[in-house]
Amino acid sequence: MNRFNGKNIIIGITGGIAGYKICDLIRLLVKENFNVEVIMTKSACEFITPLTIQTLTGNPVYTELFTLIKESKIGHISLAEKADCMVIAPATANVIGKIASGIADDLLTTTVLATKAPVLIVPSMNKNMWENPVVIENIKKISKYHTIMNPAEGLLACGVYGSGKLPEVDDIFEMIKIVLSPKPLLGKKVLVTAGPTIEEIDPVRFISNYSSGKMGYAIARVAKRLGAEVVLVSGRTALKKPYGVETHYVKSAKDMLNKCKEFIEDTDILVKCAAVADYKPESRADKKIKKGKDNKLTLNLIKNPDILFELSKYKKKGAIFIGFAAETEDAEKNAIQKLTNKNLDMIVVNNVAEKDAGFEKDTNRVILITKTGKLPLPLMTKEEVAYNIFDHLKSLSLT
Ligand code: C5P
Repeated sequence: MNRFNGKNIIIGITGGIAGYKICDLIRLLVKENFNVEVIMTKSACEFITPLTIQTLTGNPVYTELFTLIKESKIGHISLAEKADCMVIAPATANVIGKIASGIADDLLTTTVLATKAPVLIVPSMNKNMWENPVVIENIKKISKYHTIMNPAEGLLACGVYGSGKLPEVDDIFEMIKIVLSPKPLLGKKVLVTAGPTIEEIDPVRFISNYSSGKMGYAIARVAKRLGAEVVLVSGRTALKKPYGVETHYVKSAKDMLNKCKEFIEDTDILVKCAAVADYKPESRADKKIKKGKDNKLTLNLIKNPDILFELSKYKKKGAIFIGFAAETEDAEKNAIQKLTNKNLDMIVVNNVAEKDAGFEKDTNRVILITKTGKLPLPLMTKEEVAYNIFDHLKSLSLT
């Protein structure tokens, strides 16, 4: 299941050098079955050709206000009506100024005025232009009506370092999903832990596990899309920080516990997805342990704190605690025991010994277990598992 299947995205490309990056954005959207239609301003056509865009979207590109389309419906009205979301990227200072003044002198600005769909504006321009008080004033004005994605900092095409860069294309892609999503978690604070913990043996060695963090990061992304304020406490992973999610990186179970304690008293939903090391070395050597003459080296391990149990002492009234159980045998039986022992509202069980689910995979097959029953789910993407967790909380009236 793809929650965005067939959504209509109208992209407006204006005359900025970052226009070429929109080709990648279109590819991401088309790959996930969005229907993409593009309006290009006259200056946009100086940077990239409508033919390139048309080839990528598979749809005609619109450039003229007064071209009648086949079914003789007025162009800007038909695009404005079919849009689920309009995205203007890159948005130049010029188009921002026009939108702020209600000017409608080309197809793009006319469609912006005519649409009832949410409009996402992604400015990109020279640093001095972005800092110009008139542009600042215009942005302030249009942010009352539209969603603005602030530009990133970096080396700009004009050779200057500063703010004004088009945000990364996958962040714009994620922002489109945020804009399109219903917001059942609005006003909720969600704390997610993800990835493995690392327990150091000496300065160069550690004990850890195969957790990739993919499941927890998917939960953080989905919670953000659904309107929550999300904090992610992450162990070491190779994943990109989820867009719009306050992310803190930690190493050990102790670090993870301490970081979570900073947020737990305000948390409405805790999703404890991290694969925490149960044991850690009794002591960490200050210097690298040298190879000795013996064939054996004994490492003494001691138990780590159970983070879920410790955090339950600070659980806010009405808060929901969700744990994960990664099992290789008797998955369900062990999970039910954990639900009780750790005083959880839900436990998500996955058998990590399966070929297509669990650690490092993009898909998962889980069972959601609560005090009132269980819901086995078929194999699905980790993102879809995340949606199912939040949907299930709703169906049980837990949120
Ligand atoms: O007991 P077990 O490790 O199987 O339980 C898994 C659940 O408990 C996960 O949600 C995990 O994040 C959490 N956990 C924890 N602290 C530990 C070990 C696991 O919070 N020390």
